[in-house]
Amino acid sequence: MLSISVCALAYAVFSFAKEPVRRDTESASLPPQSVFVDPRSIAVLGPNGTFRENAFDSGFNPTGTEPPFFQIFDHRFLKVLGHAPSITEIASNSTFAFAHEAPIYDAALDSVFFASNDGGALGNSDINHNNQIGRIDLKNLPANLNGTAINIPVTELDLPDSIQMTNGGTGPFRGNLLLITSGRGPLPPSIALVNPRSPHNATVLLDNFFGRQFNSLNDIKIHPSGKIFFTDVVYGWLNHFRPAPLMPNQVYRLDPDTGAVRVVATDFDKCNGIAFTGDGKIAYIADTGATAGFLGNNQTEPATMQYPRYAFDVDPKTHVFKNRRIFAYSDSGVPDGVQVDTEGNVYAGCGDGVQVWTPAGDLLGKFFIGRVSSNMAFAGKGRLVIMAETKIFLAEIAANPSLFTS
Ligand SMILES: *[C@@H]1O[C@H](CO)[C@@H](O)[C@H](O)[C@H]1NC(C)=O
Ligand SMILES: *[C@@H]1O[C@H](CO)[C@@H](O)[C@H](O)[C@H]1NC(C)=O
Ligand SMILES: *[C@@H]1O[C@H](CO)[C@@H](O)[C@H](O)[C@H]1NC(C)=O
Ligand SMILES: *[C@@H]1O[C@H](CO)[C@@H](O)[C@H](O)[C@H]1NC(C)=O
Ligand SMILES: *[C@@H]1O[C@H](CO)[C@@H](O)[C@H](O)[C@H]1NC(C)=O
Repeated sequence: MLSISVCALAYAVFSFAKEPVRRDTESASLPPQSVFVDPRSIAVLGPNGTFRENAFDSGFNPTGTEPPFFQIFDHRFLKVLGHAPSITEIASNSTFAFAHEAPIYDAALDSVFFASNDGGALGNSDINHNNQIGRIDLKNLPANLNGTAINIPVTELDLPDSIQMTNGGTGPFRGNLLLITSGRGPLPPSIALVNPRSPHNATVLLDNFFGRQFNSLNDIKIHPSGKIFFTDVVYGWLNHFRPAPLMPNQVYRLDPDTGAVRVVATDFDKCNGIAFTGDGKIAYIADTGATAGFLGNNQTEPATMQYPRYAFDVDPKTHVFKNRRIFAYSDSGVPDGVQVDTEGNVYAGCGDGVQVWTPAGDLLGKFFIGRVSSNMAFAGKGRLVIMAETKIFLAEIAANPSLFTS
C-alpha cells in the first residue's frame, strides 16, 4: 500500500512540476539536492495514504528523499536557493548534542560559535554540570561542498564561571559575543558579553529583574535601535536544572547603555526564539508550548496560543509589541530559533530542519535534515549554518542575512 501511494505521489509531483517551476523540463530545472513537492500533490493522500500521527516524528517527506535536501513547496523558494545551492553535514558527534543554539558568526575570525544542549538529551549538562560553547572555523571547509558529509573539528571555549547554561546568542555586539544564559541551580540566568578571542573574558550585563531572578533566559536579538530584546521561559525548570518559575514567560527589552529593563510582550505559553525584520518594525516570536521538558510533548495544545509563531508590530516609541497575529504553524516539532533574510523571509528551526516562510507567512520550503534544528545563523552572505544537536549542516544558497540577523 505504501508503494502505491508513493508512486501516486511521484506521478503527481512530476505532473504538476511544470507550471509552478516554470521551466521546460522538471528535473533539469531543479537545482542540485532539491525536490519539488507541489502542494496539490499532497493535498489528498487518499484512503490508503500514509498519514502521520505525531508532529515529533522525523518530518513529512513524501518523496522519501535522503536528507539533507531542499524541499521546495513554492517556486519562490528557488530565489532563496539560487541556481547552485548545496547543503552538507560539516560536523558531527553522535554522543554529544554539541550544536544546540546560540549560533553566532564572527566575520573577523570566519568562525561560528554555538552552545551545546543545556539540560536536554545528549547535552552532557545538568544541574551539576555546565554546558559548553564550541567553535568551528569555516576556513577549514573544503571549497566544493556538495552534500557529502565531512567532519571539521570543534574547539571548546574555556569560559569564566559567570557563564552558566548558555541557551542563546547573537552578535557580535560591540565586538563581543552576546550570550544569554539559563542559569544553573541557584546561579542566575544572565545576559553577558564574551570576548570571542582568548582569554574569553566576560562581562555580565544583567542577571535579575529588580532583584528577582529570571526563570531561565532563552534567546536574544539586537534591534536596529541598538536595544537588546530577549525571551524568558521555564525550560530550566522543565529540564531539572533551575528552581520553579517566579515570573510569567515574557519578552523584555534591555537598554545596554542605561541598564533599564522593561517587558514588551506577555501572554505566551512558552516564548522562545526572537527575530526582527531588517527595518525593526516587525518582531517574530516562536512559541514552543507543545514541548514541555519532563512534562512531555503535547501536540494538541491549542494552536492559537502555544504552538505557532507570532508576528508583532514594534511600537516605534515604546518598543512594546502590538497587533499580535498568527504568522505560521510548523507541521514538524516546534519552531525555535528564528532568523530573517534581506527579503524579509523568515527562517525557523523546527523538528525536520529549517522551514522558510515569506513575509506573508506562506511556506516556501525547507532545509530538510529529518531531525531537529533548534537554531541557525547566516555566516555572511549566502551561507546558512544549521545547528542540529549532534550535527552541524552548512547550506550554500543565494539569500543573505538582514542587517540585524545573527
Ligand atoms: C486501497 O487498498 C485496498 C486494499 O488493498 C484496495 O482494494 C483499494 O483499491 C485501494 N484504494 C486505492 C484508492 O488505491
Ligand atoms: C564527542 O563527544 C564526547 C562526549 O560525549 C567526547 O568525549 C568526544 O571527545 C567527542 N568526540 C570528538 C571527536 O570531539
Ligand atoms: C562530492 O565531493 C567529494 C569530495 O570532493 C567527492 O568525493 C564526491 O564524489 C562528490 N559527490 C558528488 C555527489 O558529487
Ligand atoms: C576583556 O578584557 C579586556 C582587557 O581587560 C577588556 O578591554 C575587554 O573589555 C574585556 N571584554 C569583556 C567582554 O569583558
Ligand atoms: C494535551 O493538552 C490538552 C489541551 O491542553 C489536554 O486536554 C490534554 O490532557 C493534554 N494531554 C496530555 C497527554 O497531557
